[in-house]
Amino acid sequence: MPDIGLFEAIHTARSLRRLKPDPVPEGLIAQVLDAAIRASSAGNAQNWAFLVVRDSALRRQLGAIYRKASDIAAAMYTAKGRPAHLSEAQYQRLMATGAHLWDHMGDAPVILIPCLRRPDVPPVSGVQHDAELAYANRIRGASIYPAVQNIILACRALGLGTTITTNHLRCEDAVRALLGLPDDVDSFAMMPIGWPIDPFGPLSRKPLSAVVHAGRWGSAWPG
Ligand SMILES: Cc1cc2nc3c(=O)[nH]c(=O)nc-3n(C[C@H](O)[C@H](O)[C@H](O)COP(=O)(O)O)c2cc1C
Repeated sequence: MPDIGLFEAIHTARSLRRLKPDPVPEGLIAQVLDAAIRASSAGNAQNWAFLVVRDSALRRQLGAIYRKASDIAAAMYTAKGRPAHLSEAQYQRLMATGAHLWDHMGDAPVILIPCLRRPDVPPVSGVQHDAELAYANRIRGASIYPAVQNIILACRALGLGTTITTNHLRCEDAVRALLGLPDDVDSFAMMPIGWPIDPFGPLSRKPLSAVVHAGRWGSAWPG
């Protein structure tokens, strides 16, 4: 796999949900994980843990949980309909590849589960504990999702397909029990990893003019 530039990786790391069953060498997964742990975390706490699931029976059971959770996701997608910024073709691709994964999560040769230990929020005199707990909760995902993005980009650089998924959190307790997560550890994503059937990028997004404001909200950005 020839090296690709960072911006090429960012622009082409699309969600790849259709994966070949071929095995992925452990050395490549180690490279992906080594990129994951370079991410930032609040207070540099690095309270993360990553479960690399290769065992076929475990993968099948994770796949069954993902399938069950996806029934709820399917109903939600139907209720919401196509977002206005997606073309019919883009929406159909999302629905078709998403539905493929509902049935095939367990077939991915590797399923990676990024987890995070709950934060330690000690009572401190002069600090409102409830407010501090709410703050810790508000920023919690920001200590694991940068690592998830590094996983996505590292996979892209190595030619591996993946996507972030969170559907399983609808059946979180089943995943917790299956994987034996400690009480103070939560899973934040379920990432199938394998050699992709479909090509990488390019990624299409709303234009900057639709999402960037110059200073205060609503002021057009000249860029
Ligand atoms: C928080 C979050 C949760 C997601 N959950 C799922 C999921 O459960 N299943 C899935 O197939 N994709 C999931 N995705 C992937 C999105 O569908 C995907 O990022 C989006 O459609 C853009 O795809 P693209 O990068 O290929 O253009 C999730 C993405 C995010 C950021």
